[in-house]
Amino acid sequence: MAEVRFEHVTKRYTEKVTIIDDLNLTVRNHEFLALVGPSGCGKSTALRMIAGLEEVTDGDLYIDDRRVNDVAPKDRDIAMVFQNYALYPHMTVRDNMAFSLQLRRTPAQDIERRVKQAAGMLGLDDYLARRPRELSGGQRQRVALGRALVREPQVFLLDEPLSNLDAKLRVQTRAEIARLHRLTGTTFVYVTHDQVEAMTMGDRIAVLNAGVVQQLGAPQDLYDAPANLFVAGFIGAPAMNFLAARLRASGDGGATLVFAGADGVAPRSVTLSEDLAQRMARHATGGDGSAVIAGIRPEHLRPASADAPNTLAGSIELVEHLGSEQLLHVTMPGALANEAQVAEASQETPVAPRVVARVGAESRFAPGDAITLAVDANRVHIFDPATGFRLT
Ligand SMILES: Nc1ncnc2c1ncn2[C@@H]1O[C@H](COP(=O)(O)OP(=O)(O)O)[C@@H](O)[C@H]1O
Ligand SMILES: [Mg+2]
Repeated sequence: MAEVRFEHVTKRYTEKVTIIDDLNLTVRNHEFLALVGPSGCGKSTALRMIAGLEEVTDGDLYIDDRRVNDVAPKDRDIAMVFQNYALYPHMTVRDNMAFSLQLRRTPAQDIERRVKQAAGMLGLDDYLARRPRELSGGQRQRVALGRALVREPQVFLLDEPLSNLDAKLRVQTRAEIARLHRLTGTTFVYVTHDQVEAMTMGDRIAVLNAGVVQQLGAPQDLYDAPANLFVAGFIGAPAMNFLAARLRASGDGGATLVFAGADGVAPRSVTLSEDLAQRMARHATGGDGSAVIAGIRPEHLRPASADAPNTLAGSIELVEHLGSEQLLHVTMPGALANEAQVAEASQETPVAPRVVARVGAESRFAPGDAITLAVDANRVHIFDPATGFRLT
């Protein structure tokens, strides 16, 4: 059990390209830290530096009080589980798990005890004599976890270990890994590109983008108060909606968000809750107000009557039925395309910025319908369009 600390760590593969840029991050003893970010942002590189599989270009990396920059991987007391868990096909489950211990000349009794204990934790007791090809994908992944568990390491490093499993098995194994963390009390660093995995498993989450930590915090804190537009758009599914708006002070200490109008359409406005208005007081200005980006999560919009206060209005473009709920894709003035919408656009079909509302399954909606959506005036996120930072 140990703490892992990056102090001003930089990683460059070549002179010009910086992959990890001045990383400062402490993974606490016993903690499950999820390191999440889009593909290519440097997650595996960061993890591999902890494992000693990549050199640190600049800065200091500590495991507890030991600076490990120059410590060989085998002397770091870590165990790593990869996405591509190559098991030895000709060895039984027992031997796959025991192998690394045999290499280290661990006494046979000790090996037996550790393999038994790991198999017990992973529900593999009945499979110890089988070979990998006689196992399901989920069981194989559990053997890979077992192989790391028997090492009884100070730190567990997991690099997208669920990516090769189907959706149902992913959910199951997710719970299993979280349970292993509780049982062992070991420090876990878990790399994933999937924000749902990060949210459900992490004690804390570090969101990484382009080699820079964007925010570090408890899952709920990242959801409730994302530090910038990147985190706001990355955490939560469907993604947060963004709209161009102006933040206007009203005489009585209140504040109003005024959204863009369109030809012949009056601009919509939302009067912020007292609490939010107070926090926004120093950013709100008179006259036209100051330019901001408003972020509204799909679950904080609900269908309302056309004359209700604090509403947005638009036209339904697409309805996605999910059984328990529906996702309404609504075009409206001022909507800004989010990452997902940019990604799905092509040269033939340009981005149509949309606002997504997550609504109950009871009501019927159809493409082409006009709709009015009430905004939860206490749960609007407001960002500086110049810096992308959350206004606080
Ligand atoms: N050995 C390497 N040499 C040069 N560039 C690399 C090497 N390994 C990774 N990279 C680059 O570093 C960046 C981050 O990679 P990686 O840490 O694997 O990202 P992630 O795990 O977040 O998807 C990518 O642009 C990748 O192409
Ligand atoms: Mg990776």
